[in-house]
Amino acid sequence: VPLRVLLISLGQLNGLLLKLLARVPEVSEIVVATREPARAEPALNLARMAAGAEGCYPALRSVRLDFNQAEAAAETLRAIDPSVTFAAPSLQSWWVLDQIPKEASAPLRSAGYGAWLPLQLAPMIRLMKAWKVSGLTSPVIGAPYPDVVHPILATQGLAPTCGVGNVDEIVPKIAWRAASALSVDPGRVRVHLVAHHALETLVFRDAPPQEPTPPYLMRIQAADQVLARPDLRDWLFEPYPLPGGLDFHFLTVGSAIRLIRAFGKGERVKTPLHVPGPAGLPGGYPVIVGEGRIALDLPPGWTREQAIEVNRASHRWDGIDSIAEDGSFRYTDQTATLLRETLGFEWDRVGFDEVGSAAEELRHRFRDYVRGGEHGNREVRRMV
Ligand SMILES: NC(=O)c1ccc[n+]([C@@H]2O[C@H](COP(=O)([O-])OP(=O)(O)OC[C@H]3O[C@@H](n4cnc5c(N)ncnc54)[C@H](OP(=O)(O)O)[C@@H]3O)[C@@H](O)[C@H]2O)c1
Repeated sequence: VPLRVLLISLGQLNGLLLKLLARVPEVSEIVVATREPARAEPALNLARMAAGAEGCYPALRSVRLDFNQAEAAAETLRAIDPSVTFAAPSLQSWWVLDQIPKEASAPLRSAGYGAWLPLQLAPMIRLMKAWKVSGLTSPVIGAPYPDVVHPILATQGLAPTCGVGNVDEIVPKIAWRAASALSVDPGRVRVHLVAHHALETLVFRDAPPQEPTPPYLMRIQAADQVLARPDLRDWLFEPYPLPGGLDFHFLTVGSAIRLIRAFGKGERVKTPLHVPGPAGLPGGYPVIVGEGRIALDLPPGWTREQAIEVNRASHRWDGIDSIAEDGSFRYTDQTATLLRETLGFEWDRVGFDEVGSAAEELRHRFRDYVRGGEHGNREVRRMV
C-alpha cells in the first residue's frame, strides 16, 4: 500500500522527522507543506541524498501551504490527499526558553508549559479549520502540546486524530528499566501508562521530585506476569539525564515514526502504543492503532472515566487550571501571576475566539521581555 505522508510546517521537529522518515522503507512519498517551499529545498535535497545513501528512494516534494487562508489551504490539502498527516506548527516552540539567558528563563519555567498554550493552540485552530473545510478523513497527528490543545479543539469539533510523544516518551524508560531488573528483553515488557505531559517534565529530571507529582496510572507486564512491587514509582522518577535542548526531538521523532507506520499498516495489523490527546481527550493514554483508527487500550480494572480524570487533574501541574465546555481555558493563579509579573501579560482566562489575540500579545510581551534591560541577548534578539 503506498504511504504518502504529509508533514505540515518545516520547523525543528519536522526537519528532523523528514530526515529519518525518508529512510523508512514503507514510506513511498513525503510532501512537506510550508509557507516558503523554496526555503525547504536544501532540507529536501539532504533528506533525499541521505535516504538514497541508505538505499531508500521515496518521492519527496514541497508544496506551498498557508493554513491561515482556510479555503486555499483546504484545496491544497485535498490535492495532496495524504495517507497520514503530521502537523507541527508553532508560534514559539518549547526550546526557545533554552536559548535565552538562564536568569531570564528561570522565572518563566516555573509557570509550566501551559503558560505558552496560546502559541501552540492558535496555529492548530487555523490548521484544523482548514482541514475541516477540506473534508479529508485520513488520520491527522498533531504535535503541538496535544494533551491540552486537543481537548480544547474538541469543544469545537476540530480535534485531530491524536497527538504524539509526551506519554509515549516515558514508556521506553520504564520498559528498559523493567527489562534490566528482570533480565528480560525490553521488547517483551508491556507497559500501560496513563499520564499527562506535566508528568513527563518530572521523569527526565536530574533528581526525583520532592514535591507532589501529577497523578498517573501505570501497569507493567513482563513474561505474562503483572509486576506488583513497591519500587515501581521509583523506576518512573529515577534520575535519567539526557542531553538538553533540541536533541530531545530524537525521542519525539521515534514516537512519530512508529505512529505514522502504525497508521500506514494494512487492514488487520493492530499496533499497541501510547499517544496524548486521542480523539480530543486530555493527557495521554495507551491505545491500539489499526485500520486507520485509534482506540483506547485500557487494561482490566481501569475505566475510561478514571483515565480521563487522572489527565484532567494533571493540567494544573502545567499551569492550566481548567478547560471549559465552550473551549475557553483558565490559567492557574500561580501561572497567571507569574505571567503578569514577568511579562506584564494580564490574561487569566482565554476564550476560544480570543486565542489568536492572546497568542499575539504573549509573543510580543515575551519579545520585549527578552530584548529589554539586562536580559537583552543578541542571539535571542535575532530569533524573536
Ligand atoms: N508532542 C511532543 O512530544 C512534542 C515534541 C517536540 C515538539 N512539540 C511541539 O511541536 C511544535 C513544533 O515544534 P518545533 O520545535 O518544530 O517548532 P519550530 O521550529 O518553531 O517550528 C514551527 C513552525 O511553525 C510554522 N509557523 C510559525 N509561525 C507560523 C504562522 N504564523 N502561521 C503558520 N505557520 C507558522 C513554521 O513553519 P513554515 O515556516 O514551514 O510554514 C515554523 O517552522 C511545538 O508546538 C512543540 O511544542 C511536541
